[in-house]
Amino acid sequence: MDMSFYNPVRIQSGAGCLREYTGFADFGRRCMIVCGASSARRCGALADAEAALTACGVEYTVFDRIEQNPLAETCHAAGAAAREWGADFILGIGGGSPLDAAKACAVFAKNPELGPEDVYKDPAKLAALPVLCVPTTAGTGSEVTPYSIMTLRSQETKKSFAGENMWPRVAFLDAAYTASLPAYFTASTAVDALSHAIEGYFSLKASAVSDCLAERACGLILPVLRRMTAEESPSAADREALLCGSTLAGMVISRTGTGFPHACGYKLTYFHGLPHGHANACFLADFLALAAEAEPERAARLCAAGGIRDAEELAEILAAVLPEAPAITEAEAARYAAESAAAKNCRQSRRPVGEKELLPLFMRLSK
Ligand SMILES: [Fe+2]
Repeated sequence: MDMSFYNPVRIQSGAGCLREYTGFADFGRRCMIVCGASSARRCGALADAEAALTACGVEYTVFDRIEQNPLAETCHAAGAAAREWGADFILGIGGGSPLDAAKACAVFAKNPELGPEDVYKDPAKLAALPVLCVPTTAGTGSEVTPYSIMTLRSQETKKSFAGENMWPRVAFLDAAYTASLPAYFTASTAVDALSHAIEGYFSLKASAVSDCLAERACGLILPVLRRMTAEESPSAADREALLCGSTLAGMVISRTGTGFPHACGYKLTYFHGLPHGHANACFLADFLALAAEAEPERAARLCAAGGIRDAEELAEILAAVLPEAPAITEAEAARYAAESAAAKNCRQSRRPVGEKELLPLFMRLSK
């Protein structure tokens, strides 16, 4: 049995875990906080971070210009700002975009010779400032992965890179920061987490350890999504379950990477602005159905862990919590299928797919 697994992130969890953290000075005397324009402030995480840093005697500055699906150029600018300010470490606060940007910023800060897209050439051993992460959505799992996903104008898509110095040193999990998230984004981010668990489960790199994490993540996330279909807003306990499930699913993909729903979804995000989790949702039930054809017993085990019958029931749940995706043209469908099929995500699954399998899925989105 393959037990391979590695995830060196310290997890601090529970109400007040950021505000009460006393270890910031272990990472240096100067911190740059990396976040978006408003959500880190609105949810209270930024104020808690500022209070905790001050109590530890750490000086800080705030770079709050991270946009959704951050451009490589923005992350590069954040890295230059961190270097100029003399930051010893980076504290990322937000959803996936600010957390991924924080990791990229940490790399750019230490490597002034690199242009915005140069990190993709040979990222494995690049030096980076220490990064600590505070997720304010329950979906990305970025707080426990070494991945950063940036938007590349040159390639008209989002693309990830990873390095051994990009693992966050500490992840702070406090579900209170997710409480103000509107229902649509709660559902979309939860589906992102669910897609990490499901795609990772059928990765060639899945191990017995990542399987346990994926099964548990499905068991935490799917019952909440099912309740959300009844238009109940998630309770505090539900939000905790989603955040825990999201981090467990992040640990899964820290080993396995993602599958074709991510590769395909990036196209809908880049060209049509569809939020990441919603974009994955357009392909996730198909991914599970194809995986179940190849490995029915394995698929049945994952479905049982999540309390669903099969891929069809997953499709029903997704359709109930998320609105229909915007229509694309047939020409776009053909182009996206061809381009997505070239992504490495499509080859790292136990049931590899190519353009032939992806084209009908995109065509279904065309009207
Ligand atoms: Fe994702």
